[in-house]
Amino acid sequence: MPDISIMHALCRAVSPAITDCELSFIDRESIDVALAQAQHRDYIAALGALGVRVTELPAEPVLPDSVFVEDSVLLFDELAVLTRPGAISRRAEVDAIAPVVQSVRSRVERITQPGTVDGGDVLCIGQHVFVGLSQRSNQAAIDQLTAVLKPFGYAVTAVPIRNCLHLKSAVTALSDDTVLINPEWVAAGYFDAYRQIRVAESEAHAANVVRIGAAILMPSCFPETRALVQAAGFAVSTVDVSELQKAEGAVTCCCVLFTG
Ligand code: GLY
Repeated sequence: MPDISIMHALCRAVSPAITDCELSFIDRESIDVALAQAQHRDYIAALGALGVRVTELPAEPVLPDSVFVEDSVLLFDELAVLTRPGAISRRAEVDAIAPVVQSVRSRVERITQPGTVDGGDVLCIGQHVFVGLSQRSNQAAIDQLTAVLKPFGYAVTAVPIRNCLHLKSAVTALSDDTVLINPEWVAAGYFDAYRQIRVAESEAHAANVVRIGAAILMPSCFPETRALVQAAGFAVSTVDVSELQKAEGAVTCCCVLFTG
């Protein structure tokens, strides 16, 4: 039988409160909210152009980082796991997304105290789940995830990171056998099983890309890394997310992808 599963995404419109977002590794700059909202619409259009069916949730007026939906839920084929974000200001995002999660997965687990994990720290490549040990995500959450996912055949590996917000700031998958990586922020040895493409030296933040089937979506501000990814044989689309980057956001964190 051919695989007829369709790629879906949950996205949430940019909060008017995004100017009060959490920041950890970058300095605060003025964010143009209207431009951020326009760029987010372009991002959703880019996902749509790649064949993704997007469900756009309404903006949350008092949750500044709620556009970064990836951090509040992990969606696997077999189940969903609601997270417990590391930043206290972001915890309410989980209850805000829970009802829609329950409509797409019948089995829903939840990370509980003392565990904390942001979805940006969770990189799934096939049945392998890499979880960043970061300012946001801790070993207690990794232990809980390991217990929840093991019955479904997933192997979980903890990966320390440095000088960046999330594991997926440092590394994402271009395919099941290739990663795009900034080895200054994560030890490349954790990904020895994969072909590795290193980000351009002048583009430290370029490792965060969205993989849609065989296509790659990345920010438009990393032309050197884009050229490297294209030279490795990948089709790349780009989108300008400069205002979301000022909120320490990236392209993966603006959607939760799942098959349906
Ligand atoms: N502003 C994104 C985050 O810190 O979670």
